[in-house]
Order: sequence, then structure tokens, then C-alpha cells
Amino acid sequence: MTNPVLTLHVVAAFLSISGFIFRGILHLSSSDLVNKKWLKISPHVNDTILIVSAIVLLQRADLNILDTPWLQAKIVALILYIALGLIAFRFAKTRMVSLFAWIAAIFVFAYIVGVAITKSPLVLF
Ligand code: HEM
Repeated sequence: MTNPVLTLHVVAAFLSISGFIFRGILHLSSSDLVNKKWLKISPHVNDTILIVSAIVLLQRADLNILDTPWLQAKIVALILYIALGLIAFRFAKTRMVSLFAWIAAIFVFAYIVGVAITKSPLVLF
């Protein structure tokens, strides 16, 4: 991977899911660590890097979201990943709902990586 922006994008993606899994474990085990300030702020910093690097990649590759279905799929799935994360960590009233939203978000993330690698919204087909 010789493109530094692409490397940054992929590292930010890896940190995003690693942090998400870590926070999920803390949350589901009712650990007090979830209230640590750095654990609340760092995902926002990392997600900003992920999005800004995505915008730079889009410009450099001269890609238009409107006629690139895999990019549209990525954006929709990213919104779903964020929404499921909010359910898991903020809105879920029961531990079960939180757990399901957390697991679903991890699957959605895997789908995003699949779309990124195959450049197809259907990933496997
Ligand atoms: C959680 C969200 C995201 C993840 C996990 C992710 C993951 C990845 C990965 C793994 C690659 C490297 C693919 C490869 O080189 O084989 C990549 C590339 C790329 N991503 Fe993302 N991405 C995310 C969000 C986005 C968003 C929102 C956009 C913009 C709409 C975007 C635009 C791009 C572009 C333009 C490339 C470079 C494609 C190329 O020219 O090879 N990504 N992404």
C-alpha cells in the first residue's frame, strides 16, 4: 500500500472496529471504564480521520459518489454502523438489545470492508 492517505484510511478503519469491539465488551460487562473521557473522545477523533481520508481518496481518484454504486453502499452501511453503535451504547434499554445491535454493527462493518476490497455492493457475487 504505497498511498499514505489510503494507509491512513485503512488504519483508521482498523482502529474504529477495534475500539468498537473494546467499548462493547466494557459496556456489556458494565465496566466503569466506559465513562473514561479518552474512551468517549477517541472514537470521534478517529472517525473524523476516517471520513476526511475518505474524502481525500475520493478527490484523488476522481470518483463521483453518484455514479459509483459501491461508494453509495459504503455510505449507507456506514450510516447503519453509526446507528447500530448508538443503539448499542446509548439507546438500548436492555442488555439483550445492546448485544444484538453491537453484533449487527460488527457484521455491517465487515460488509463495508468487503465492499471496499471488492468494489462491489454485492461483495460475494
Ligand atoms: C467504516 C467505514 C469504512 C471502512 C471500514 C473502509 C474501509 C476501506 C478499506 C479497507 C479500503 C482499502 C481497499 C483496498 O485498497 O483494497 C478503503 C478504500 C477506500 N475507501 Fe473506505 N472505508 C470506510 C468508509 C469510507 C467512506 C465513507 C468512503 C467515501 C464515501 C470511503 C472511500 C474509500 C475510497 C475512495 C477508497 C480507495 C479506493 C481505491 O481507489 O482503491 N471509505 N476503505
